[in-house]
Amino acid sequence: MKIIGTGSVLPKKIVTNEMLSQFLDTSDEWITTRTGVKSRHVISDEKLEDMAIEAAQKALADAGISAADLDYIICSNVVNEYITPQLSCIIQGGIGASCPCIDINCACAGFIFALDLAESHYKAGKVKNVLIVCAEEPSRMPDWADRRTCVLFGDGAGAAVLGPGDNIKSIKLSSSSATDRLWQMRRLQPTPFITKEEEDVPLQMKGQEVFKFAVKAAEKDIRRTLEEVNCTPDDVDHYLLHQANIRIIDSIRHSMEQPQEKFPTNIEDHGNSSSSSCPILLDECRKAGRFKPGDLISMSAFGAGFVSGAVLFEW
Ligand code: COA
Repeated sequence: MKIIGTGSVLPKKIVTNEMLSQFLDTSDEWITTRTGVKSRHVISDEKLEDMAIEAAQKALADAGISAADLDYIICSNVVNEYITPQLSCIIQGGIGASCPCIDINCACAGFIFALDLAESHYKAGKVKNVLIVCAEEPSRMPDWADRRTCVLFGDGAGAAVLGPGDNIKSIKLSSSSATDRLWQMRRLQPTPFITKEEEDVPLQMKGQEVFKFAVKAAEKDIRRTLEEVNCTPDDVDHYLLHQANIRIIDSIRHSMEQPQEKFPTNIEDHGNSSSSSCPILLDECRKAGRFKPGDLISMSAFGAGFVSGAVLFEW
């Protein structure tokens, strides 16, 4: 397939590190040096589904196709207010499409897993045009009294429309169960029969273990995509990495021995927006005129599960 349109939407409320320091035992200095985040957009009165629909409409407008031309909608989401229906069906109604829809939860790696689904359906001859929307509100997951987690995240929606083409050169995915490193639980409605104990546990994270996993997995995934098509790290024009921590991005860059100019970032004013991070960065780079036709782009993301993946594609 080929990415033919992108779009993104951010909530209007901007929360700076200074604002966090007013109610948490933290500082701009700590957050900036440990994560690279200076501020983040967080949901206040917006509804995530409205942001998802708007991002989808922008991507369709950029692609120059209408909702009626879509054959499949994939929505990547970890949490939103609806347990059911799926967010992709809400987006379908919002944009006036009528094709099948599916939601996936592959944490922060959702965009890469969604690209793999789209490409597989395309190669099977089932679809021509696919809309991927990553819509995330990770600010709703941590305890906002927990300085170790809440400072990291920001919300947003990023979308991409894919059409016929052979621009996706390689995709590699991996999953390895690690359920006690990055997790959250919610209590469901009680029934007369439930006897087990259930808890509402906000996001829990073993930060250093996640950090090490991320660096190792991303480099491995990226190298596997390059090897499949006989390319080297030097052949890549742009590395678009999941915006989780600037130190993770820098570690991957150093081990790939690549210059900083190839690694655009927006973590400074977005924080980690889960699976939306990659398509938002893609959309911002496109709008900034950063890509030329034929440029080789490597995109990589990792997240809870653990899951990770990389895709190599031509612009
Ligand atoms: N402000 C001030 N101090 C903080 C803090 C904050 N927001 N958060 C943690 N600290 C403190 C800790 O309590 C600890 O204090 P102690 O030494 O007195 O116990 C100290 O800072 C160091 O904590 P540590 O967790 O070792 O820091 P770190 O260098 O590993 O950085 C992360 C923490 C979370 C920034 C880092 O581990 C990370 O980014 N991991 C990956 C997380 C990630 O990407 N998650 C999403 C994956 S999709």
